Amino acid sequence: MRKPFVAGNWKMNKTIAEGVTLARALAEGLSKDAKADVAVIPPFLAVPAVAQALKGTPVKVGAQDVFWEAQGAFTGEISAAMLQDAGATFVLCGHSERRHVIGEPDEIVRRKLDAALKAGLDAILCVGEKLDEREAGLTEKRLDIQVRSGLTGLAPSHLSRVTVAYEPVWAIGTGKTATTAQAQEAHLFIRKLVRGMFGAAAADDLRIQYGGSVTAQNAKELMGQPDVDGALVGGASLKPESFLGIIAGA
Ligand code: 13P
Repeated sequence: MRKPFVAGNWKMNKTIAEGVTLARALAEGLSKDAKADVAVIPPFLAVPAVAQALKGTPVKVGAQDVFWEAQGAFTGEISAAMLQDAGATFVLCGHSERRHVIGEPDEIVRRKLDAALKAGLDAILCVGEKLDEREAGLTEKRLDIQVRSGLTGLAPSHLSRVTVAYEPVWAIGTGKTATTAQAQEAHLFIRKLVRGMFGAAAADDLRIQYGGSVTAQNAKELMGQPDVDGALVGGASLKPESFLGIIAGA
């Protein structure tokens, strides 16, 4: 049985002090019998303080991005080792905003994923189709390309440290959520793909989060789908009440 994984991606929100306040409220409000693994993903600058504030709590801290080289002349970039040093235990790779706002191609996403896993960080590989792709019937094709590019050739020991997040681009920050049927269909497609690549046991163990306008109102139904193993939450993770409501739905 896969334990649900609910992570709050703060994106470019929260100062260090605001992040610490939110993290504390979250840890205090978290029920002892929460059924999910819980994590927050602050902006880089808030990672150390938030990780410090959450020390001794079950809430994990991740980062939103990573560079693929270990060190050197890469102005503005942050390495996996630096993230670990700051207290992060995992990192997002290929978030839709990195892919579509910043322009990261699949090949770069894969390099980041490899660098993170090799350095000992866990990773969330984000995938998802754009609206025009869905409307043109290309959802599965897009997911196939992104998942294969992200995971092909990974060692089984590395795959076990990867979560996949299915985030349809048209549902991110739009208030439009995929229907439970659309989410389940995409998640099952991804799981079958991974079964073909890595075998049944690895596919059965893989956690696949749904992301895209998840709220305390729709979380339970989404996570109630057989192949939806948690949520990657944006806007609704910025307030303790709404994020705790989502966790309670797991
Ligand atoms: P929203 O929950 O704000 O739609 O964002 C989803 C997301 O991109 C999480 O990574």
